[in-house]
Amino acid sequence: MAARVPGPGASLLRRFRTVGWLWALAVVLSGCGGDRLGDPFGTAMVIDDPYRPQVHYAPPSGWMNDPNGLVYAGGVYHLFYQYNPFGDTWGNISWGYATSPDLVRWTTQGVALPARGDTLIFSGSAVEDAENTSGLCGAAPAAGCLIAVYTASFPDPDLGTRQVQSLAVSRDNGRTWTDYAQNPVLDLGLSDFRDPKVFWHRPSQRWVMAVTLSAERQVAFFASPDLRTWTELSRFGPAGATEGIWEVPDLVELPLGDGATRWVLKVDVGSGAAGGGSGGQYFVGDFDGRTFTPETPPGDLPLWLDHGADFYAAVTWNGLPNDRRVWIGWMSNWAYAERLPPTGWRGAMTLPRTLGLRATPAGLRLTQTPIREIEQQRGSPVRVEGTDAAAVDAALAERGAGGRVLEIEARLRPGEAEIVGFRVREGADEFTTVGYDRRKGEVFVHRHRAGVADLGPVFTGFKTAPLAMRDALDLRIFVDRSSVEVFAEGGLRVLTNRIFPDPQSTGLTFFAEGGAIERADVTVWPLRAARPGR
Ligand code: FRU
Repeated sequence: MAARVPGPGASLLRRFRTVGWLWALAVVLSGCGGDRLGDPFGTAMVIDDPYRPQVHYAPPSGWMNDPNGLVYAGGVYHLFYQYNPFGDTWGNISWGYATSPDLVRWTTQGVALPARGDTLIFSGSAVEDAENTSGLCGAAPAAGCLIAVYTASFPDPDLGTRQVQSLAVSRDNGRTWTDYAQNPVLDLGLSDFRDPKVFWHRPSQRWVMAVTLSAERQVAFFASPDLRTWTELSRFGPAGATEGIWEVPDLVELPLGDGATRWVLKVDVGSGAAGGGSGGQYFVGDFDGRTFTPETPPGDLPLWLDHGADFYAAVTWNGLPNDRRVWIGWMSNWAYAERLPPTGWRGAMTLPRTLGLRATPAGLRLTQTPIREIEQQRGSPVRVEGTDAAAVDAALAERGAGGRVLEIEARLRPGEAEIVGFRVREGADEFTTVGYDRRKGEVFVHRHRAGVADLGPVFTGFKTAPLAMRDALDLRIFVDRSSVEVFAEGGLRVLTNRIFPDPQSTGLTFFAEGGAIERADVTVWPLRAARPGR
């Protein structure tokens, strides 16, 4: 570069140009996360835009749907995902790859399992086979030997499409992958047989797989000593919500306290979900190593994972320390996912969420709370409390609360007010409302004026979650550049929604309608952008 440094006679313009190019180069390089697997398609260049999430994972470019292969191994959180490296709509489906040291700062690693001709690499899971049960890992202990169990989907002359379960092996903690030579490991001769979630079942000392028979609205369970040979154990369903096809199951054991546990079976439905379009439901029950037996009375079903429109294909990480249960979902909806504003990338993940079970008068219910690690992104808080909504709002404004990326924690006693809540990402002509309707007993999110809104009724429709309030309402709201996630009552009710506001819409309003509130305690943090981490 030295030869290009402008001499004394160089114009200011030339000097500016050199600095400008260096800056541009630095921006591009700092956005490159594809160094480990190579970046054959130039997909790892992060182009910034008004909707690019700051505390959520989104691919640098291309299309993304479901999270896949979630496993914690070698001190790294691995996040694979359904990925089209060649376009921003669904197609060429491969496994994209990102890693993180903390579930917050993600580094894109490129394409891990590319589509091969007309064989697409559909959703699946990954495990660390440290004991080399598969015999595919070399000598035990085989730390860093990851086995991906994925659905291969390809054209079939009789079936139209055939879906089978296959393996890929990485002996270097996710860096490089080899397809198993004897694939597939499971083939029922079906066209809708997908999304294997495999985990180690400790009591029976073997691998268990939950996988969907999508058209039948069933989850099938299989067991294996070695990940290569699978025996069917049982099937569950149809049950609960059956309008849409079933996809992406997961089966997790959650503590209840005092050493007791219950199992939660989740499965997504392609249509007819609580928030409209696609979404997820769950069942609470027991799994004895062979059969899942629900304890939720059929009359109480379906139980929804999320009452917003944008929570799909959530799966838990395998291998987390201390049996921690954390999942992440695709923050979109099949009803409009391919029509989201074209920015060169489409699809974002939710915040990772910690799972729990809570005893309620209606029975055991799932809770989801944002992982504690997200709090490391918090800037200086603004705390306001009061008994007059307008005064609380004025104090928030005076102290500069608001912005594009923030966390709001509120404890609200609505008093006489019929509706109480916040407008976030507010601008001259747009806002997203997050509130509580005391008379209806509902938490709600309304995004009919949240920016781009020509995505149809599933997008614009009112999102509500029933919630009987006790003495006060607890709300946590995470706002990012193109999403709002609401966690009410410690995560008993969750509403996840994408929004597409103008970058200038940074306002935050606290409001009450129909009467005076009793009290509001509000804390607002700006959240710092999560920079790539290894
Ligand atoms: C769910 C899903 C899965 C499938 C994948 C294909 O969103 O339809 O059932 O494996 O996406 O990309």
